[in-house]
Amino acid sequence: VLKVTEFISANDLASLMDVSVNQVIATCMSLGMFVSINQRLDAEAITIIADEFGYEVEFAKPDEEIEAAEEEDSVEDLQDRAPIVTIMGHVDHGKTSLLDYIRRSKVTADEAGGITQHIGAYDVRTSDGHKIAFLDTPGHEAFTAMRARGAKITDVAIIVIAADDSIMPQTKEAINHAQVAGVPMIFAINKVDKPNANPEKIKEELANMNLLVEDWGGKYQSQDISAKTGLGVDELLEKVLLEAEILELKANPNKRAVGTVIEASLDKGRGYVATIMVQAGTLKVGDIMLAGPHYGRVKAMFDHKGKKLSEAGPSTPVQVLGLGGAPQAGDTFKVYETEREAREIANSREQLLREQSMRTKKHITLDEIGRRL
Ligand code: GTP
Ligand code: MG
Repeated sequence: VLKVTEFISANDLASLMDVSVNQVIATCMSLGMFVSINQRLDAEAITIIADEFGYEVEFAKPDEEIEAAEEEDSVEDLQDRAPIVTIMGHVDHGKTSLLDYIRRSKVTADEAGGITQHIGAYDVRTSDGHKIAFLDTPGHEAFTAMRARGAKITDVAIIVIAADDSIMPQTKEAINHAQVAGVPMIFAINKVDKPNANPEKIKEELANMNLLVEDWGGKYQSQDISAKTGLGVDELLEKVLLEAEILELKANPNKRAVGTVIEASLDKGRGYVATIMVQAGTLKVGDIMLAGPHYGRVKAMFDHKGKKLSEAGPSTPVQVLGLGGAPQAGDTFKVYETEREAREIANSREQLLREQSMRTKKHITLDEIGRRL
């Protein structure tokens, strides 16, 4: 069995099968296919050629290939890392307000005058010095797909529910995403400052969904909060840290970085700007990174306060300049040792994308993909 990616070149296929490229080309000719050395082959051609040489093929997606190549970390290389938390919930239930409150009280406090910009990901330090990384996810149904992806890099999900409303369709969806991803949930019952707020009614609705919160004798942590006044927010963060402690989150900071793209866009003057979450390893300025079908050398990195960084370790969200295009939210990124390696994978991914868009008869340019974010 030969494990290959689609669009491997005739030359690479030959070396994988340990035959000369001339043999591959000759075989192709005898089958009526005319290929050149560097021509990339589609799945059908690869299957036929491999069969001629007595191989069965199994197609690996580029990402699976990356995971397979991922070296295992030994226990002594692993160090504690901060939890990555996603705030999810129905439209207008207060996700952004909660994050804003946390940022205002926990982030800008230690850096007065800092320019806070919206980058969709933040890291904060609680009053007792613990780090927590947050992802802000858009609340509209159109972003369901991205949100589902968001749950994948998340260690803990905060489900925000407005106490003056009810469990809404997107609340259920958020709960569902967290459950499917196996991510522990903490319920933040928000807007308790409002006169018509009824947190007990929300807890009852949760109980009706088989989600018993702790005060009701269940296993789910919940916290009444007001994102407006800040009531209960410290307690909520303590609960996040408690949940994280149970998970024993660890990563090896001493290797080339891997992680996920949060968002990316083209900025006039700065070029392509990507917000990424480093999940393992340490990303450094000058590294060659590949994200989705785009690669480049990291020219500069910034935290969410706009402060320049020279490196970023596990569970750190950063803005990165230097990619040759805008990857999609949810794409994974990885640092490569050589530009050649990154370029090769980038090319085959780009080709895959082109092929896919041709198949669906939608001619989406990569630029348009970037603009959609
Ligand atoms: P989307 O991103 O559109 O899904 O909304 P969201 O969940 O981020 O909600 P957002 O934080 O934008 O809040 C929606 C509205 O509720 C805003 O007008 C907030 O000012 C208000 N709000 C949020 N939290 C509270 C709260 O704790 N108390 C009160 N009184 N109002 C709140
Ligand atoms: Mg919002």
